[in-house]
Amino acid sequence: MHATKTEWLTEFDDDDLDEICEATEQAIEVGIGFDWISPPPRDRLESYWRGVLLVPERELLVGRYNGTVAGTAQMVRPAPNNQAGAHNVILNSFFVAPWARGHGLARDMLDDFEKHARTRGFRQISLDVRETQEGAIALYENAGFVRWGIKPNYALVGGQFIRGFFYTKDIGA
Ligand SMILES: CC(C)(COP(=O)(O)OP(=O)(O)OC[C@H]1O[C@@H](n2cnc3c(N)ncnc32)[C@H](O)[C@@H]1OP(=O)(O)O)[C@@H](O)C(=O)NCCC(=O)NCCS
Repeated sequence: MHATKTEWLTEFDDDDLDEICEATEQAIEVGIGFDWISPPPRDRLESYWRGVLLVPERELLVGRYNGTVAGTAQMVRPAPNNQAGAHNVILNSFFVAPWARGHGLARDMLDDFEKHARTRGFRQISLDVRETQEGAIALYENAGFVRWGIKPNYALVGGQFIRGFFYTKDIGA
């Protein structure tokens, strides 16, 4: 029996950091992992992940598959001066490692993300995604995200521009 679990991390134990780095490397190797095109050296990846926990506006959600960290998503809250945008929270850096895909982990993570955003009083979630990420686009649209914009020169990979799709979902009055 396979088990998925989601969890908001405020610190890493040794296994977590190793697993999160491995999952990131695997996601980058099969196509997309944040904005890296090829995996950076392990020490840089570790610094990146340690840094995520230090940024005051960021919170880190991980998805576990049979206990091992297999995916992550980050909640980026508006800066304290952004009073006009205080209703909106950003979802970014969302992926599930290839070996754990197709078991509902991303859907569980998205549900947890939305629940957490509501608990924190946000009324809207925004995100953007490359047009090539068909799985992610299906996931977001099935979850009620609405596409409001397209940016032509969103990502530059292998000398080719890829369009970016911008989505939003209203989650409260
Ligand atoms: C997109 C991604 C997060 C999905 O992870 P996952 O754990 O396999 O997704 P789930 O098993 O929870 O699937 C949930 C839903 O997503 C959609 N979906 C996921 N993968 C899909 C695919 N390859 N094609 C079509 N729909 C897909 C389906 O709507 C699915 O619902 P269903 O089970 O009713 O068909 C994962 O494939 C991934 O990390 N991709 C690369 C990185 C990426 O695109 N990140 C998001 C943009 S930055």
